Amino acid sequence: MKLIDLRNELKRVYNQHGKDGADIDFIVSELLGVSRTELPLIKEITSRQGKEIRHYAKKRMNSEIPIDKLFKKSYFYGLEFFVDKNVLSPRQDSEILVDTAIKFIKKNQYKNVLDLCTGSGCLAIAIKKNCDIDMTASDLSKPALKIAKANAKRNSTDIKFILSDLFDKIESGFDLIVSNPPYIARDEIKTLSREVKDYDPLLALDGGVDGLDFYRRIAIYAIDHLTDRGAVILEIGYNQRQDIISIFKDYELLQVVPDLNGIDRVLVFKRSRR
Ligand SMILES: C[S@@+](CC[C@H](N)C(=O)[O-])C[C@H]1O[C@@H](n2cnc3c(N)ncnc32)[C@H](O)[C@@H]1O
Repeated sequence: MKLIDLRNELKRVYNQHGKDGADIDFIVSELLGVSRTELPLIKEITSRQGKEIRHYAKKRMNSEIPIDKLFKKSYFYGLEFFVDKNVLSPRQDSEILVDTAIKFIKKNQYKNVLDLCTGSGCLAIAIKKNCDIDMTASDLSKPALKIAKANAKRNSTDIKFILSDLFDKIESGFDLIVSNPPYIARDEIKTLSREVKDYDPLLALDGGVDGLDFYRRIAIYAIDHLTDRGAVILEIGYNQRQDIISIFKDYELLQVVPDLNGIDRVLVFKRSRR
């Protein structure tokens, strides 16, 4: 059986049903044990492999389970992560935060970095992999932290993990605090797609009544945990830029970074001299 024919056929079906055709390539590469870029090199597959690919394609087609949660594997910043219902699936948009943080760390020769609300650990691990720093990562969720630890090991990174309600158990002295906190307004959660609201943990989504609770808490407490030349890099929701800049009025806004769709996605604040 020709792989290209099967891929095209299944992608056509997915497109007709409003599903993402890229999921077919995810399924095929997972089942054949090759990377996405190697797929065009594979010409023929056995009928058994074809059957298996069809089985998973159908499974994904008929349920709302996101493809990475179906395979318990996510790709982020070129690295592999274990994911399940206890952690937010890493989003491609969050790679912007990682890019921004890496540049900022190198430019300022920062040494101590904290990732607040680490979830799967994807931000902390991707940053640590690319910088010579001491990395600490924290989360309120015990199961998420267990997954983040396993992901750090899987990616051979040395990170200190702390179970903590935001800054409660966190020491001070960080040059940089990065965070992608929960930022969905509570009433909006029910309007999200089932892929998100049924498979990402509520704890990872709920940002309080207006979605901004975590930013308020971070703005108040980050100052005590930063070095004098420290900074905060935050991922934000599509409509939150202005509100968050107001919340961080005691900090100096250094940078607003848009995502690939041109939506402001990352804010960089420097601790102001007081
Ligand atoms: C939006 S997810 C981000 C996960 C990961 N950093 C990423 O970018 O994919 C937010 C994370 O915040 C954690 N969280 C929720 N409330 C928290 C709190 N009070 N203190 C620390 N972490 C919290 C959740 O468990 C979840 O893992």
